[in-house]
Amino acid sequence: ETIDGAGQILLPGFVDLHTHLREPGREDTETIESGSAAAALGGYTAVFAMANTSPVADNPVVTDHVWRRGREVGLVDVHPVGAVTVGLAGKQLAEMGTMAAGEAGVRLFSDDGRCVHDPLIMRRALEYANSLGVLIAQHAEEPRLTEGAVAHEGPNASRLGLAGWPRAAEESIVARDALLARDAGARVHICHASTAGTVEILKWAKAQGISITAEVTPHHLLLDDSRLETYDAVNKVNPPLREAADVAALRQALADGTVDCVATDHAPHAEQDKCCEFAAARPGMLGLETALSIVVDTMVRPGLLDWRGVARVMSENPARIAGLDDQGRPLAVGEPANLVLVDPEAEWTVRSADLASISKNTPYEAMTLPGRVTATFLRGRLTARDGSVRIGTGARTGGQS
Ligand code: DOR
Ligand code: ZN
Ligand code: ZN
Repeated sequence: ETIDGAGQILLPGFVDLHTHLREPGREDTETIESGSAAAALGGYTAVFAMANTSPVADNPVVTDHVWRRGREVGLVDVHPVGAVTVGLAGKQLAEMGTMAAGEAGVRLFSDDGRCVHDPLIMRRALEYANSLGVLIAQHAEEPRLTEGAVAHEGPNASRLGLAGWPRAAEESIVARDALLARDAGARVHICHASTAGTVEILKWAKAQGISITAEVTPHHLLLDDSRLETYDAVNKVNPPLREAADVAALRQALADGTVDCVATDHAPHAEQDKCCEFAAARPGMLGLETALSIVVDTMVRPGLLDWRGVARVMSENPARIAGLDDQGRPLAVGEPANLVLVDPEAEWTVRSADLASISKNTPYEAMTLPGRVTATFLRGRLTARDGSVRIGTGARTGGQS
């Protein structure tokens, strides 16, 4: 099969540090297979599958299962994220070393969905992770400030009668963890930065030489809380959609490197968990199949990033942060590559029915977006082409065609 790449952009395969795949436990909303298909269609060759499954991925039985199932499906490298504490946001550290030493070789740990809240537990977790050479990714949310909160605390939420989630709930944990990382001499990664204040704290911490990195989601780069008007729970997410000034600060931070990368926080939810009252709906939205287009729309078209920059924030930086050694480095001649081909001029209209994800909770329904993934290659093997997944060999031991 020959692919004519004239007029298209060839980039290293995208790496998503933050994906919720719901297997094991909620296979009615996403499986490793359906999520892998969504990832390949979105141009990804590696995804990090968050630990808030059921059972929680706080032990090597679960992390190795996720890794093996991903390999069987063979569309994308599914790297399990291990939990930091037993059962998420617990008082006991999970055995990160055992998960790191398992078949999956877990290198990223997070209680995402929940915040590692206790400062002493976080401090010990950072020291432990540092001794193992692995990284902790923090869902920065001070839970005492978000009890009952369903939307960004601001004029829109007040007017609509929605309980507010203040910026300080995020920023206080980001600042605290920067200081804990400094004292522990450890690295820390901040999940889904969502406020202008978080950007300022990151800037300060990086200037101090603290080993802190951060991601921003496509939805926080595009959407703001003016969306709440309709009370449509598709716009409910943690952290919440913020204000236009936060969106502008996040775009600038991604452009200047204060925020290191884009991560989707792909969060599939069943129709019945999203169609109820706003306050009762689950937080989260789909992201894998639309991420590149949102980055083109918010960063490339306005001139904030060139295509070299897209490769940096979608592939090279996340690969470096997670310690992937097979992504974003120069290849030897003849070595099978992870690649994505993008048509920069193509536009497409999002139809949830057409998405590969089992769940349909996209906030971009009926929007026409720029930039389309036309082909994805995992170690030289075509995994997606013009909107169709190539189910193939299964085994992915350096397969090429
Ligand atoms: O919106 C969110 N959804 N934020 C989280 O932290 C968890 C995630 C989920 O698992 O649905
Ligand atoms: Zn989170
Ligand atoms: Zn998440």
